[in-house]
Amino acid sequence: MASNRKLLLLPGDGIGPECLGQVRRAAEWFDRRRVTSFELEEDLVGGAALDAHGVPLAEATLETAMAADAVLLGAVGGPKWDDLPFEIKPERGLLRLRKEMELFANLRPALCFDALVAASTLKPEVVSGLDIMIVRELTGGVYFGEPRGIETLPDGTRRGVNTQVYTSPEIERVARVAFELAQRRGNKVCSVEKANVMESGVLWREEVQKLHDAAYPDVALSHMYADNCAMQLVRAPKQFDVIVTDNLFGDMLSDAAAMLTGSLGMLPSASLGAADATGRRKALYEPVHGSAPDIAGGDKANPLASLLSFSMMLRYSFDEGEGADLLDRAVETVLNDGLRTADIMQDGMTEVSTSAMGDAVLAALDKLAG
Ligand code: IPM
Ligand code: MG
Repeated sequence: MASNRKLLLLPGDGIGPECLGQVRRAAEWFDRRRVTSFELEEDLVGGAALDAHGVPLAEATLETAMAADAVLLGAVGGPKWDDLPFEIKPERGLLRLRKEMELFANLRPALCFDALVAASTLKPEVVSGLDIMIVRELTGGVYFGEPRGIETLPDGTRRGVNTQVYTSPEIERVARVAFELAQRRGNKVCSVEKANVMESGVLWREEVQKLHDAAYPDVALSHMYADNCAMQLVRAPKQFDVIVTDNLFGDMLSDAAAMLTGSLGMLPSASLGAADATGRRKALYEPVHGSAPDIAGGDKANPLASLLSFSMMLRYSFDEGEGADLLDRAVETVLNDGLRTADIMQDGMTEVSTSAMGDAVLAALDKLAG
């Protein structure tokens, strides 16, 4: 029996708790059925933490997260907290986790399941078989750059400032992740910036090219401006394998890529830090979708993105590729069987609740594992 893996669940707000409830069941299944064994802890983040502690991320929670082998987060935010000052908004809890844990590489796969091709707003031939990986830089750029703030000028007008800033090591470490992922996939990296208007983009391009030439000459590298990339993503998304880009462009391009697949409710993500001497990386896994306050608590949310995030955790934190493949296949099986939550419902399919979707995934796991 492998030693216990410490997993911290941070369900957060809105549909987060319902979705992570299904992840807990899957974790228990793997505990029961496989050599992997988890020590599950649960804590508050976002609005839930604000209500309990007055801050979106308590110090003790951050400490637990730092010590965990992996963190699984549901979602943060909701209308209840929208008018709070910026520094204590629920979103700050998530941003602080990313920053303090130094999770600089955000992996956002956009994969179109065969069963969901018709759910995309794009033509089937454009998206069928789509499998791209966006690697978004997550702890730098305009999200964290200084100076920042809103100030009142002597004449009474106001000025809002954010700073886009990258250093060469910040670019190099995230590009390295992209090249290494590409080598295990289609061996292509497209690096995205706005080198035509931004100095930080010029540096980005130069550093990515330099790393490529020095360490990954076998990978096919191309460079693209971010606006063109947005256009290419909806025109011909299958030209891409791995896209590597900065924090803000990655935020926007990954939402666009997500929608190619038909539903945000299907997409997982992983945020990884640097490997330490033992090869262990700090890691946080979360669905790409938000807290969906309008349906929260109604057993209507799609838990598949959370389950697929758990699968990414098996793969990237615990080197359990077989377990991850099994869970991915279980998700594919329930989709092929015609089960759909409301967000991906199509004619002729069977609409099911969050928990019924969880039941079906567990049943598929039982069947596939024999
Ligand atoms: C995301 C979200 C976050 C971001 C928000 C919730 C702070 O949009 O993970 O893409 O902008 O990074
Ligand atoms: Mg976003």
